[in-house]
Amino acid sequence: MGDDKGRVVCVTGAGGYVASWLIKLLLSKGYTVHGTVRNPGDEKNAHLYKLEKASDNLKLFKAELLDYESLYSAIKGCSGVFHVASPLPTGPVQNPQVEIIEPAVKGTLNVLKACVEAKVKRVIVVSSGTAVFMNPSWPKDRVKDETCWSDKEFQKKVKHWYGLSKTEAESEALEFGKTSELDVVTVCPVLVFGPMLQHTMNASSMHLMRQLKEGDEPRENKLQKVVDVRDVAEALVLVYEKPEAEGRYICSSFCIRAKDLVDKLKSIYPNYNYPKSFIDAEDEPKMTSQKLQKLGWSYRPLEETLVDSVESFKAAGRLD
Ligand SMILES: NC(=O)c1ccc[n+]([C@@H]2O[C@H](COP(=O)([O-])OP(=O)(O)OC[C@H]3O[C@@H](n4cnc5c(N)ncnc54)[C@H](OP(=O)(O)O)[C@@H]3O)[C@@H](O)[C@H]2O)c1
Repeated sequence: MGDDKGRVVCVTGAGGYVASWLIKLLLSKGYTVHGTVRNPGDEKNAHLYKLEKASDNLKLFKAELLDYESLYSAIKGCSGVFHVASPLPTGPVQNPQVEIIEPAVKGTLNVLKACVEAKVKRVIVVSSGTAVFMNPSWPKDRVKDETCWSDKEFQKKVKHWYGLSKTEAESEALEFGKTSELDVVTVCPVLVFGPMLQHTMNASSMHLMRQLKEGDEPRENKLQKVVDVRDVAEALVLVYEKPEAEGRYICSSFCIRAKDLVDKLKSIYPNYNYPKSFIDAEDEPKMTSQKLQKLGWSYRPLEETLVDSVESFKAAGRLD
């Protein structure tokens, strides 16, 4: 992917949490970026214009995942695409099929078809750990790797619509790659923490912030799989740039119990309203990112992620 044409890439959902860090990294590496947003004039995308080199090398396009032509206009002229956009609800959902599943699945297929029409060489599809780990029949003593797929029937049963949307979108994307000329690689980040570049609160940052503010609710002491948003951006660029990258990649740095995560936060910032009680949760297998590490990926310490997250919430006035 190292030729000059490979230096023009498209990032969908540019204004979001993960995409903003990805664009910052791509610009710093000299890429020209076509970013898609639903509304280029919206204040929530203002941070993108302030990124270093954005004035010369970032162009925003208005695009909606269910509108093929709008996606094609942004993808035309690019050698690579990072498909990041997908609905990640922060509150209750009335109609999961319309609000989550269709934009995720049809939206991904629209992006892939536009990539074929625009003769894109490689597309990196951002999937999720929820497309990997929700598999009740996986052996309890076996670490989950890329061969583990979430069970869609189970996801329907427990009404995990977001997880279902990601599982369906990722499996369709890989299938599309097998039956077309397009080189499709997927990356499955687990719960993403770390500082925010954007002003609006995304779902995973909200989840972390609740640990600092909503201590009266008992929490399930589940095993949480965590990765830093900046390490996710590095992973996405790595799989784009390494010609040998193929298939899917789990992107996860730490597996830590909810209570241990809170204890870690407490040891650095003792004065927030942390959860006071935890409910025991079942043991479950860990996940491994060995495949990604073999490609050259590394990650920062958890403490750095937590400190930078909290400082970012403080700077945004979210913890007042
Ligand atoms: N954060 C995590 O913990 C985590 C973990 C695993 C995977 N992921 C994946 O990472 C990606 C980015 O997530 P994020 O955490 O950065 O969330 P985010 O900040 O909410 O970003 C999601 C982006 O998708 C866009 N989008 C949603 N529906 C769309 C539609 N119908 N048409 C066009 N754009 C649409 C949003 O645009 P608007 O700004 O216009 O709403 C937003 O830019 C997603 O694919 C998500 O599934 C995230």
